[in-house]
Amino acid sequence: MHDIIQQLDDKRAAACLGGGQRRIDAQHKKGKLTARERIELLLDEGTFEEWDMFKEHRCVDFGMAEQKVPGDGVVIGYGTISGRMVFVFSQDFTVFGGALSEAHAEKICKVMDKAMQVGAPVIGLNDSGGARIQEGVASLGGYAEVFQRNVMASGVIPQISMIMGPCAGGAVYSPAMTDFIFMVKDSSYMFVTGPEVVKTVTHEEVTAEELGGAVTHTSKSGVADLAFENDVDALLMLRRFFNYLPLSNKEKPPIRPTEDSADRLDYSLDTLVPDNTNKPYDIKELIFKTVDDGDFFEVQPDHAKNIIIGFARMEGQTVGIVANQPMVLAGCLDIKSAIKGGRFVRFCDAFNIPIVTFVDVPGFMPGTAQEYGGIIKHGAKLLYAYAECTVPKITVITRKAYGGAYDVMASKHLRGDVNFAWPSAEIAVMGPKGAVEIIFRDEKGDPAKLAEREAEYKAKFANPFVAGARGYIDDVIQPHETRKRICRSLVMLRNKSITNPWRKHGNIPL
Ligand code: HXC
Repeated sequence: MHDIIQQLDDKRAAACLGGGQRRIDAQHKKGKLTARERIELLLDEGTFEEWDMFKEHRCVDFGMAEQKVPGDGVVIGYGTISGRMVFVFSQDFTVFGGALSEAHAEKICKVMDKAMQVGAPVIGLNDSGGARIQEGVASLGGYAEVFQRNVMASGVIPQISMIMGPCAGGAVYSPAMTDFIFMVKDSSYMFVTGPEVVKTVTHEEVTAEELGGAVTHTSKSGVADLAFENDVDALLMLRRFFNYLPLSNKEKPPIRPTEDSADRLDYSLDTLVPDNTNKPYDIKELIFKTVDDGDFFEVQPDHAKNIIIGFARMEGQTVGIVANQPMVLAGCLDIKSAIKGGRFVRFCDAFNIPIVTFVDVPGFMPGTAQEYGGIIKHGAKLLYAYAECTVPKITVITRKAYGGAYDVMASKHLRGDVNFAWPSAEIAVMGPKGAVEIIFRDEKGDPAKLAEREAEYKAKFANPFVAGARGYIDDVIQPHETRKRICRSLVMLRNKSITNPWRKHGNIPL
């Protein structure tokens, strides 16, 4: 008996060595942790239950029969984060560069299937050279099995991808179908084809960092949601992020008790909006001063900065925040911001997270670049997402809500539950200057007359009371009481229940 126990210990020790000490040292030298070290940091201490430690690949080509590593390049199992269940797979770059074999894929599918059955999120720690070249189509089939499960799990359990090494080919398409993608700066890359292939096909010379590094994907492409400094920082932030989310679409997000009173007033907000309506101000100040303890977890902070999205809590309850940012492009909606906002609204809706929308938007961005790029279709994504959404929706218009953008930003007409406006709100078809230049075109040669018309238009329309008179705005509130009014509304909406008509699925303008 003692021998058998010793054998088990030896087998475990061999599996834990993955591709061997030399490759582990190389991984450390690059500033990267190993697959198991990452799981240890991510999960609550001592909670990890590992599965399939002894699983091996079945490939015999290219000398692979002699190269078997127990676990086959991915560590899988479950554990807890802050006491809440989560399933994890962590790819081991020391084993064939984390490349995905048929057996490796089966392991990932195993945790995904169980996560769906029990209703708990899946976190993937990705570090993989893509399809295992020696396995050919068996590896491609393995990827497709994972993709299919990603799609079935979408909107049922949260799926989060942390990219922690070079991820090429198939290794980027599974993350692409998960809810959030995070990256580690300087050590993670995502691309469909690497720099060498790019050079051959398009003759472009580009480094891996420029092509698919963390900065590229969190700022230019918007593929990734956040970039972290190193593995440790990334995993600790992931734990924080996880705490905002429910375990599945059947549950509500966890409540985190707070000392921050729901009645807290903040008089500094009364002077947040400048007297000059064309002057920008930082909408983040309003977010920080409204949410519990000023704690706001922003997502995609470096991409499409004219809209801000992220998670916060109000009286301990997770809320999704969407806000126009007057500091960037005057807060206009454009292609990138509409896609960014629309996807976030849909995530919140799928996972029972109420949405608080702060509006200061002068309209959709004009110009050929936007029109040729398809602003009509892409702008419609945000409109569609808000209109389809059935979770509690609370809207606060701080200043401009012009034109179609007024409609889009969780207006009463798109089933906004509680729509507030500050006294500084201007709810109109367009800004006063543009409006008078169109309707009083004949008086264009007379600046004094035009100024008079502008003042007249401003007095009549550039305020919240016209919309208030129609009930489109439920109340005009003092800026300093914003937190209190939102908290009360959220309590009132706690058991809100509306359903959309039955259908196989809608046809969002993709
Ligand atoms: C098998 C692989 C591998 C792969 C890397 N390795 N990628 N083995 N299949 N796809 C092995 C290497 O042979 C090496 O083995 C070890 O992993 C580490 O790789 P290095 O190249 O030494 O590391 P590094 O210099 O850091 O470069 C990492 C890399 C590079 C950027 C990932 O290895 C690379 O470009 N790999 C190929 C990427 C690729 O083209 N994948 C296929 C994509 S097609 P040793 O024994 O030396 O440690 C695809 C199709 C799916 O994925 C499509 C579905 C939609």
